[in-house]
Amino acid sequence: MAKLMVLSVLVVAVAVLIGERFIALRNTLLVFRELAQNHLPNCEFIKGIEFGAEDITVLDDDLAFISTGIKYPGMPRFTDEPGKIYMLNLPSGAGLKELHIKGDFDTASFGPHGISLYTDEDGSRYLFVVNHPHENSQVEIFQYVEEESTLVHKKTIKHELLHNVNDIVAVGVEHFYATNDHYFTHGPLKLLEALFSLSWCDVVYYSPEAVRVLAGGFYGANGINISPDKKHLYVSDLMSHKIVVLNIQKGNTLSRVKEVDVGSLCDNIEVESKTGDLWMGCHPNGAKILQFDPNASAGSEVIRIQNILSEEPVVTQVYADNGSVLIGSSVATPYKGKLLIGSVFQKALICDLD
Ligand SMILES: *[C@@H]1O[C@H](CO)[C@@H](O)[C@H](O)[C@H]1NC(C)=O
Repeated sequence: MAKLMVLSVLVVAVAVLIGERFIALRNTLLVFRELAQNHLPNCEFIKGIEFGAEDITVLDDDLAFISTGIKYPGMPRFTDEPGKIYMLNLPSGAGLKELHIKGDFDTASFGPHGISLYTDEDGSRYLFVVNHPHENSQVEIFQYVEEESTLVHKKTIKHELLHNVNDIVAVGVEHFYATNDHYFTHGPLKLLEALFSLSWCDVVYYSPEAVRVLAGGFYGANGINISPDKKHLYVSDLMSHKIVVLNIQKGNTLSRVKEVDVGSLCDNIEVESKTGDLWMGCHPNGAKILQFDPNASAGSEVIRIQNILSEEPVVTQVYADNGSVLIGSSVATPYKGKLLIGSVFQKALICDLD
């Protein structure tokens, strides 16, 4: 009898704990947040983008790279076509062009995710792309050959520390910082990680000489980028609704400087070269975006942070939509009075900034 009592109490306790955890997770995912429309003038869709513009990076010569056709582990496929890298003219938003890939590379399984551009001292440009072929995580390095509009595949980087790579920022010809957006790689364990708020995600530094975890304690490390003077890294701690500022110190160690609350689940971070401002494409409702279903109408939100290193950073919502226009914004970048907004698996929008 006594044993049965203890067992019943245990079962009830576990049920209560799991129930409490699910409610906490719903709060983390901002399920109850009300989103008011905050549209920008003269928005137009980028013609030809139908399967996402998960990440975008701008070149200062009126061009943007766009990664499309993500194949994120666990996410449904919206097209059987391989992922692609496009180039777009800015600020017009016209002239979308696929960059052809040359070299020894399996284009059929290409599933591009976060991207980053590195310009070498000799002017050569390298595009780093997080790739998820066959549900894996690896980083591809391509050389961008402007005259031929091609990407020449140079190298595939795989490493046990690069297990759930979401985004990267390149700092050398074969050197980058990367975020892992989960600690576990298996679906059910990923759910437990989210459910129990395990802040076990990290930032990894890769160079051919050494691969190291440089910062940990993230509850879903997502977008990563670097300040114009290359002294600070910015990391979106997605599930904590924060942007974390890390100082790059001598000997390439990272120290946490501060966190800035954004009140949204922010994805990629773009840094405006002139001002140093941060621009993020964010998910205002995490439960909706995680359904990866156009009918769930996950909304979109663009947030800017000015003066992030000062005592009083200014956080502004620049754009918000309830999913009737743009579903699942993941990146936003300003360019000469325009704002280009990409999404995880749907469209891309170009608007006027007031
Ligand atoms: C979004 O808001 C508009 C009003 O601005 C409304 O007509 C529409 O039904 C809403 N859509 C969704 C998906 O909530």
